[in-house]
Amino acid sequence: MKVLILNGSPRKGNTLTAIKAIRKGLEERPDAADIEVTQIDAAGKEIIPCKACNACGCMSRCIFADDSPEINAAVEEADAIIFATPVYWWGITAQLKLVIDKFYARASKFSGTGKKIGTVVIGEAELDDAEYEIIQKQFQCISDYLGWNIVFAKSISANKPKDLAADEQMLAELEKLGAEL
Ligand SMILES: Cc1cc2nc3c(=O)[nH]c(=O)nc-3n(C[C@H](O)[C@H](O)[C@H](O)COP(=O)(O)O)c2cc1C
Repeated sequence: MKVLILNGSPRKGNTLTAIKAIRKGLEERPDAADIEVTQIDAAGKEIIPCKACNACGCMSRCIFADDSPEINAAVEEADAIIFATPVYWWGITAQLKLVIDKFYARASKFSGTGKKIGTVVIGEAELDDAEYEIIQKQFQCISDYLGWNIVFAKSISANKPKDLAADEQMLAELEKLGAEL
């Protein structure tokens, strides 16, 4: 199984902690030798915002030179994708949104592939805030549109960079998500 982790956070904080816990769960599985994990940190990539020129409709890749073709290739190859993002202004981060917008160039290739999808959404607000519902719904709509299957959708309340690292119970839950993916 090829697992792709798309990290939407620009800092070494809660999202990275969550990703590490999920990776630990994946690494400790009995079938770990058959699992290949790739992590892409969106903040470290050069992505030109989509200009809706529709040239990708002919070329199946963005006409502008950026890192989106390599990311889309990783998406295409993946059996499972984990989207991990902080909440920024009731939404996903701009860094992750830039990556997702470029799915447009390969949507027909991604479509109907039944990829397993996991989402991790981390915000400062308590879990009853609408932001988690809004973002998880966005991932649900994207997955439905592409014929992908959400296998977990985790929302976490944490703010300072080390908050989640101190929450042993949540870390154990995240490890289990990796173990059961
Ligand atoms: C620009 C910006 C906007 C934010 N907007 C929200 C928000 O709307 N709701 C919220 O709960 N937290 C918000 N936060 C807080 C982050 O979601 C929170 O600190 C999260 O733990 C950051 O994840 P990280 O440690 O992986 O970077 C915002 C933080 C930043 C920097």
